[in-house]
Order: sequence, then C-alpha cells, then structure tokens
Amino acid sequence: MTLSAAVVELAAYARDLTKVYGSGPNAVHALAGVDLEIARGSFTAVMGPSGSGKSTLMHCLAGLDRVTTGHVYIGDSDITTLPDRDLTRLRRDRIGFIFQAFNLLPTMTGLQNIVLPLELAGRRVDLAAVHVITDSLGITDRLGHLPSQLSGGEQQRVAVARALVSEPDLIFADEPTGALDTRTGRALLEYLAHASSSLGHTIVMVTHDPIAAAYAERAIILSDGRIVQDIPHPTSQDALAALNDADVA
Ligand SMILES: Nc1ncnc2c1ncn2[C@@H]1O[C@H](COP(=O)(O)OP(=O)(O)OP(=O)(O)O)[C@@H](O)[C@H]1O
Ligand SMILES: [Mg+2]
Repeated sequence: MTLSAAVVELAAYARDLTKVYGSGPNAVHALAGVDLEIARGSFTAVMGPSGSGKSTLMHCLAGLDRVTTGHVYIGDSDITTLPDRDLTRLRRDRIGFIFQAFNLLPTMTGLQNIVLPLELAGRRVDLAAVHVITDSLGITDRLGHLPSQLSGGEQQRVAVARALVSEPDLIFADEPTGALDTRTGRALLEYLAHASSSLGHTIVMVTHDPIAAAYAERAIILSDGRIVQDIPHPTSQDALAALNDADVA
C-alpha cells in the first residue's frame, strides 16, 4: 500500500476549537482548545464528567452552535465561515442529530416527527424504509402517538429514528441510550455499530456508560473543555478507568 492510500478520509475535523459562554467574570470556557479528527465511517464515543463540554462539542461539530474561535470542517466545508443558509442546507442534507433532550415536536405524532426532516428537504417518504428503522427500534406500533403519550425511552427512539431516516453521512447522538432500559439500549448500540461498520455512516456518540463506549471503535475523554484521552478500541474497563481519571483531575 502506498502512503497516500493510507491517509484516512475525514468526515469531520476541528481545529483549536474554543467556545465561551457569557463574558467577564461569568464567562464559562466550555471548550478550551479542541483538535479532533473524525474518520469517515467511524464510530466514536465522547465521554467525560458532567459539564466537561460534551454537548457543546457536539453542537459545534454539527453546526448547531457557533464556535467562539477555531474551525470545524464537515468534509471539505469550513462550517464556521459558512453563511447561515448554506449551513442550514448542509446540516439538513448531511447531518443527523439525536438531542440529549429529544426535541420532538409536541403537536406531531411519532411518525410525523420522524419523517419531518425528509419533508423539509422535499424528499420522498419511503414508509417501508422508515419501518425498517422503527422495527429495529421496536416502536413501529407507537408511531401514531404524540410525544406526550410516549414513555421517555419511546420518545428517545423516535428521536433516533428521526436522525437516521434521511441516511445522513454524519450522525451525532447525545446520550442516545440515557432513557433506555438495558435491552433496548443494547439493541440501539448494536444498530449504531452496524450503521457505521456495514452502512458506512459516521457516528459520534456522547455516553456516560462505559459499556456503551465499548461498542465504539474509539473513545475520547473530555475534561474542562479539553480532550484528555483518546482511546482506540476501548473496552468498558478502559472507558471506566479513563472516566475515573478525568473525574479525579
Ligand atoms: N447556553 C449556555 N450558557 C452558559 N453556559 C453554558 C451554556 N451551555 C452550556 N454551558 C456551560 O458549559 C459547560 C459545558 O456544558 P455542556 O452542556 O457541554 O456539558 P456536558 O459535558 O454535555 O455535560 P452533561 O454530561 O451534564 O450533559 C458547563 O459548565 C455548562 O454549564
Ligand atoms: Mg450534555
């Protein structure tokens, strides 16, 4: 193999990223200089103590929040300099986001929530394809209900299906198993691992669960807005030990 063939294709990368909330004595340095490369088709877990900057990092990588300084590239596009309209289109076409707080629209049923990104993009809704995803998540029979009529775990799975249905290149998932029981959580993690290894999607997942991190092929650990560890092929023991180190630090 030549050297150039070994160069990893990147789905996204960040350079010297900082994010400061507020100003003066109240300023919070949520990201304090993050450099990160996400290989195409990879499955990365993001871990770290509460408040270490995980959600902020995900929002900045996905173009949902503007960075304070530094750059984020999705493919070849520097999204930190992209005009809002272009950024909105890039997000819609290429990025799926599973929010920590689900963010479902309360007046729409599960199914309407799931197909909304397709409809906004003017794309055809293939119900059979939607059902492949909702079957694998075990929510097909709940799709006619409003979010308020669904359990927390069911709402979470609707949010997962909504992020997957447009087959985005890049999927960001902020604690996607946080509201799920062990069995449903494992099924979702297996689906995400399969989506990366067999379907070629790139997945970045925040999790507090070392067992969930072991489904990923890489774990990065954040502490006080910085990456303090980058672990290839983490076992749950590796992830737990790294989390304990970050907590102590
Ligand atoms: N909109 C905001 N305004 C001010 N500070 C914020 C805002 N959003 C987040 N922060 C602060 O930035 C820091 C990082 O927050 P972030 O939500 O990224 O943490 P996290 O690692 O996702 O934590 P958790 O595990 O609790 O979800 C925290 O100190 C938080 O209080
Ligand atoms: Mg968070």
